[in-house]
Amino acid sequence: MNLFDSINRRKSCRNYTGQPFGKEQLEEIAEAISGFEPLYPDVPLEYRFVTKAKGIFKVQAPHYLIISGQGQEKESENAGFLFQQLILWFDAHNIGSVWLGKTKDIENPSDKDPNGKDIIVIAFGQASESVHRREDEFKRKPINEITDYPADPCIQAVRLAPSGMNLQPWYLEKSGDKLLLYKQSLKPPLSLVYKKTEVDMGIALCHYALACRHFDRPFAFNRKDEEASKKGYRLFGELLTPANLEK
Ligand SMILES: Cc1cc2nc3c(=O)[nH]c(=O)nc-3n(C[C@H](O)[C@H](O)[C@H](O)COP(=O)(O)O)c2cc1C
Repeated sequence: MNLFDSINRRKSCRNYTGQPFGKEQLEEIAEAISGFEPLYPDVPLEYRFVTKAKGIFKVQAPHYLIISGQGQEKESENAGFLFQQLILWFDAHNIGSVWLGKTKDIENPSDKDPNGKDIIVIAFGQASESVHRREDEFKRKPINEITDYPADPCIQAVRLAPSGMNLQPWYLEKSGDKLLLYKQSLKPPLSLVYKKTEVDMGIALCHYALACRHFDRPFAFNRKDEEASKKGYRLFGELLTPANLEK
């Protein structure tokens, strides 16, 4: 399954037929998830399927996938990275889906489970609209607003990544033989409303990694968390660049 091909055609789906999938189809989805790569193999994640959820900006769908962890650091970006592969897999299978940042499980809320912490939700199901769009229909920042190295096709894949409120909170800067990945520091009132920027960063890294695989380049990510001279941003990590690879 070439998930890369779905990067430039997927879209969030907010209209569903309401017809639920059967046990077999849910098992097929679970099997697909077990084949996806995590960003950090040592940061465990769990997930469960539910049919009822609540919250603001919720989308009515036949299924919700609730992703949870143990309250450890780096879980959110790991969740974005791993489950963006599922979002692309859904696109490849003509299944609609959308990330939901403010939606909660009604029946088993994680605040009642001492061992679990819910991170993020994905609504999915049979769509009553097209689950694809043309590349020129993506509403995204121009490439020069997210990088000073626009020729890199892996960064072009990052540009198309979905993010909460479509904030696209990433910037990639070429620095010698490294590619620095920055995370935008949100300010109030936005920072009070939106708290899923790390999920967004994982999603962006997923697109970068899939593009590396597609263009036969190695993917290596080194996590950092440092103040940066770039105003309004923090350093989030370093990536390999083509310059490294030419050596
Ligand atoms: C972490 C995250 C949280 C999101 N939360 C919501 C949400 O609560 N409700 C919603 O309708 N869309 C939500 N979205 C979908 C975004 O609005 C959407 O990805 C963005 O506007 C880009 O549009 P596209 O996905 O169609 O390319 C979320 C996306 C991400 C990545």
